[in-house]
Amino acid sequence: MSLFLTGGGGGLGAAVAHAFAERGVAIGVVDVAIDNAERVAAGVRERWGVAAVAVACDLRDWASIEAAWKKTGEELGPIDLVVNNAGVFSPKPDLRDLTQADWEFAIAVNLNAPFFVGQLAAKEWIANGVHGSIVNVASTAAETVAPDFHAIDYGASKAGLVGLTKHFGVDLGPYGIRTNAIAPASFRSPMNAERLKDPEEVKKSEAMTPLHRIAEAEEMAAAILFLALDGTYVNGQLLAVDGGQMLMM
Ligand SMILES: NC(=O)c1ccc[n+]([C@@H]2O[C@H](COP(=O)([O-])OP(=O)(O)OC[C@H]3O[C@@H](n4cnc5c(N)ncnc54)[C@H](O)[C@@H]3O)[C@@H](O)[C@H]2O)c1
Repeated sequence: MSLFLTGGGGGLGAAVAHAFAERGVAIGVVDVAIDNAERVAAGVRERWGVAAVAVACDLRDWASIEAAWKKTGEELGPIDLVVNNAGVFSPKPDLRDLTQADWEFAIAVNLNAPFFVGQLAAKEWIANGVHGSIVNVASTAAETVAPDFHAIDYGASKAGLVGLTKHFGVDLGPYGIRTNAIAPASFRSPMNAERLKDPEEVKKSEAMTPLHRIAEAEEMAAAILFLALDGTYVNGQLLAVDGGQMLMM
């Protein structure tokens, strides 16, 4: 099996790469930050002895996505798993300050790219009778708005991704292709490392979940692995991996 993993050079990307590699899956580590992708791919090869390649891609550009898809298939063999993990988060305290560029950036990476990657997968898998699986990384921000969150572009893009997941689930289910999503709350990664340096922010995040702790990326990767490989009758679903946070909002 081969995985097309976007944002593979990031915090959750690395955890997902290792979790799937442990199950013998070859990993295409797709990222605009190619040095990070190379580091993750090398770590995976060394630790698990499976094939792993770093693939440069700017997800804002559909031609770049198509080239990355082709390269990954050529290097690893046909892709049968997708994790749309890449995401960008640039909160602005006041929505009145959001520019067209801010809005389009969030939508391009967090919503448009997962659509196009999923469409490429659908075309190839339906043509070849592949019963592939897609997992999208959404967020609790798709469903709920935490106090002081201030990221309307991010929340809207992730809500769109949840909608997309349901439509893919229904449209591709007849071909034996499953599509699901996870909604993480806060987990430790480069995306929030700066914010979580502040003990007050840590306390705030901890207080928001019944488990009273911030998750680790490996706990998200375990849920993604379940949806991609083991949950063979789960389709079109959003799995909250949030310690119960959304129940309290
Ligand atoms: N960290 C959290 O607390 C948290 C909470 C909820 C959801 N999420 C979601 O989890 C996913 C992974 O986030 P993370 O915390 O690992 O963040 P991260 O910043 O460590 O990783 C994101 C990766 O996406 C890549 N990326 C960004 N723009 C790209 C582009 N245009 N083309 C290609 N790659 C690009 C980055 O280079 C990076 O490697 C994201 O979708 C994020 O929205 C994170």
